[in-house]
This record gives sequence, structure tokens and C-alpha cells, in this order.
Amino acid sequence: MIALSLAEIASVVGGQTHDIPDPSVQVTGPVVRDSREAVPGSLFVAFVGERVDGHDFAARVVEAGAAAVLASRPVGVPAIVVDDVQAALGALARHVVERLGATLVALTGSAGKTSTKDLIAQVLGRMAPTVFTPGSLNNEIGLPLTALTATEETRYLVLEMGARGIGHIRYLTGLTPPRIGVVLNVGSAHIGEFGGREQIAQAKGELVESLPSADAGGTAVLNADDPLVRAMAARTKARVLLFGESDEADVRAENVRLTAAGQPSFRLHTPSGCSDVTMRLYGEHHVSNALAAAAVAHELGMPADEIAVALSEAGSLSRWRMEVTERPDGVTVVNDAYNANPESMRAALRALVAMGQGRRTWAVLGKMAELGDEALAEHDAVGRLAVRLNVSKLVAVGGREASWLQLGAYNEGSWGEESVHVSDAQAAVDLLRSELRPGDVVLVKASRSVGLESVAQALLETGAEGEVAAR
Ligand SMILES: Nc1ncnc2c1ncn2[C@@H]1O[C@H](COP(=O)(O)OP(=O)(O)O)[C@@H](O)[C@H]1O
Ligand SMILES: [Mg+2]
Repeated sequence: MIALSLAEIASVVGGQTHDIPDPSVQVTGPVVRDSREAVPGSLFVAFVGERVDGHDFAARVVEAGAAAVLASRPVGVPAIVVDDVQAALGALARHVVERLGATLVALTGSAGKTSTKDLIAQVLGRMAPTVFTPGSLNNEIGLPLTALTATEETRYLVLEMGARGIGHIRYLTGLTPPRIGVVLNVGSAHIGEFGGREQIAQAKGELVESLPSADAGGTAVLNADDPLVRAMAARTKARVLLFGESDEADVRAENVRLTAAGQPSFRLHTPSGCSDVTMRLYGEHHVSNALAAAAVAHELGMPADEIAVALSEAGSLSRWRMEVTERPDGVTVVNDAYNANPESMRAALRALVAMGQGRRTWAVLGKMAELGDEALAEHDAVGRLAVRLNVSKLVAVGGREASWLQLGAYNEGSWGEESVHVSDAQAAVDLLRSELRPGDVVLVKASRSVGLESVAQALLETGAEGEVAAR
């Protein structure tokens, strides 16, 4: 964080100082919410959770060197006391980003936020110091904490914004107002909570509504291939830059194909030139993510050939997203167990098939959560697609939703052992351990809550017969 005195922080957040002998003491370290991360100079934010009250750790973090605690009551050690800790954290983030000279880039969408944020960060990082959301910390707490890690050197601040309902993105853009706002897609992630696709579009579009006008440098980077995103152009004063495969797009991909390894390759077109890209990431869905990143980089002045090199060299920064590992016996394990929704299931199945040419392919799939009324139809459709794409074996893992996956496959024409339904991760591991042959490719994917990464991990434990950790 940029150094601020406790007195300045108290004034920014409208708080009272308690037990602070010297208000000119500076906060120089990170702002943290986890007491174990407190280091000399940091500010500890005490949240009252359902099970844990951060205030109970106040003495410990100060002992570890924290300059003070941001708290909702006095705690007997240096504290800035406010009514609402979350609002205070937000106000502090806002103050800090206003003082920074950094360009703020924010992105949202139903699927691909973290992957795209990691791409944008890796591309912009080649031009200048870039700070970005670690992992998926995209909510009302993770976002300000990330913004507060920026320093005077930071030129680009890349922030993932998540939403579970109307007003969430508006709240986040109020904390860290972006100059460039990227909307990737409107899919069905969390559709159950939102109530429908239009509501999701309404919520995601709040990002472009928040942008400054074109004259003030505001730029909305929108997916031309997604009609609900394309339509957001009408909701912004910012300049609109379109990306996609459509002819209309300013930043386009042509000749898109997957290499034999399942990595996308395409010709990148930007208003400043063209260049070829072959990605290290797996799956066709990364083309769209890469174009979004290219559009941002173009907007910030990077030439097309440099963007193409950066995209071609970018790796995966976040775990369990199409993480490809070769076993010594020639079995390829693709761990995409971080999350799943219908769009990403389809993309992952296509990548599996591209990687599996001439080899046996296994799709070990579990439930896609939070689909509301569409759950049955969507699981059925994924099961059917697995058969249509000619995946060799479908292993559906878990309860009701897994049975819908398997039934979809069955009804589409899989027979015998081509699609099976097993009750849990351990059963899937047992089956795979006995059936896998050298050369097979195995995709493992489900919603986060299913915990299927344990299957991928078990498959990678060479020779071990270890139990799968229960979740
Ligand atoms: N553009 C995309 N369209 C569909 N699925 C995607 C896209 N980008 C990534 N995915 C898949 O969606 C899942 C979540 O990816 P992630 O980048 O973590 O997105 P988010 O942060 O939006 O949840 C992964 O399984 C990934 O393979
Ligand atoms: Mg994410």
C-alpha cells in the first residue's frame, strides 16, 4: 500500500482513534483480513464473521507488528474504530486509488473472469508494473484489499468484479472506478440466484454504466459475439471497443483452430495490425478471453505483434483451470475442477476431444451448481454433447445432477460402459485406476463445491492407493 498515517486513515474512513499513542505512525504494509498475514506496518481489518470475530485477534496482530486494527469497537490495542468496517475498507480503497496514478481496468462476465484477468495482467505486465486480483478475490472485500496492494509504482490495476445480484457491480465500481471496463459474456453462471439471463445482463452492464465518458478516456470493451453484451454499448458514455470473431469486432480472431494439444491458435487483428497467436492455455474458450485482453492492451497502446507474443507466452496463474499434467505412463490428466457452468463444460469437452485425437478420452464430470430451473436441461445437454463429440467415456460423479448427465449421454446414444454414473469421487478414482490405459486423456470438471480436484490429484499420485479426501 502507499504509506498513510493512522491519522490520515482515520480521517479518510471517518473513524475514531483508540489506544493510539502516536497517530503519525504510518501504515506501510499490506491491509489484511487474515490475522496470520499481519506483518510489521500492516493494517488489520477486523470483520465479525459467523464463526470468527476478527476483534479477538487484535492483540495478536499488533504483537506481530501491525500498526493498528480497523475495528467496530475498541480492542485495547491501537485501533481506528468505525461503525461499518466494510464501508471503511471501501472508503480507504477509493482514497488510495484516487491518489495513485494507475489506470484501472475492471472486468466482469459469467465465465472466464479469472482466466482473462490473468491474461490481461500478464500482457500489461510487459509494459509496466501491474497489480491484479489474486485468484478470484472479486467481491466487496477482496476487491478493496487487492486495490490496497497497489503502490506508487503501479501503472495498471486489473480488477476482477463478481456479482450475485443487481447493484453488486455498481457497488464495486464505486470503490475502484475503472477507466476501462470489460464485459466478457452473459451466461448461466449463478442464474438461479439472479433469476434469469436478462437480470444477469442488467447486473453485469453496471460496469459500463460506471465508466467515464469517451472524452475522459472511458473505454468499454465488449464481446461482439454475445448479443446481451453487445447491447451494453447503449448503456455507456464511454468509447466502445468490440472484440470477438464477428466481422464487426475491432479486435478479432481469424482462422481459429485448436492445435493437436488442444491449444488455440489464431490470427489476431487489431486496429493497429495483425499477428499470429498460439496459446499455452487449453480450450477454445480462451480465444474470447485472449481477444478481450488484446483489446485492453491495444487500448493502452501496445502494438499487435507484442500483444500476440504476450498472449502466446501467457501461462495459467490460477489453479485447477484446465491444468494439464502428463503422467509418466502417458496418461494425460486435465484438471478443470475449479468450477463449471454450461459454457465452460462445452468448452472443456471440445478441448478434451481436440487433445484426444487418436487417443481414448474420458470426461469425469460432476454437477454444475446454481442453475435453478435450467439444471435438468443443462445437465442433460452436457451429457448429450459428450456423446455427440465422441468422447470415449463419460463418468458422471455424484447425486441427482450426475444422473442427469449420464441419462443425457445414454439418451443421445451412448451404450454399455460408454457412460457410467458413480456415487462419489472415491468411486470415480477406483474406476479410473482400474480402467485407465497409457495414452488416455482424462478431463475432470464440476462446480467448485463438488471438489472433483481430489479425483485429478488422486490420479496424479503415482501408484499410491490413497483415499480421496472427503468433502
Ligand atoms: N470465455 C469463457 N467461456 C466459457 N467458459 C470459460 C471461459 N473462460 C474460462 N472458462 C471456463 O470457466 C471456468 C471458470 O473460469 P474462470 O476463469 O475461473 O472464470 P470466473 O472467474 O468467471 O469464474 C473454467 O472451467 C474455465 O475453463
Ligand atoms: Mg473468478
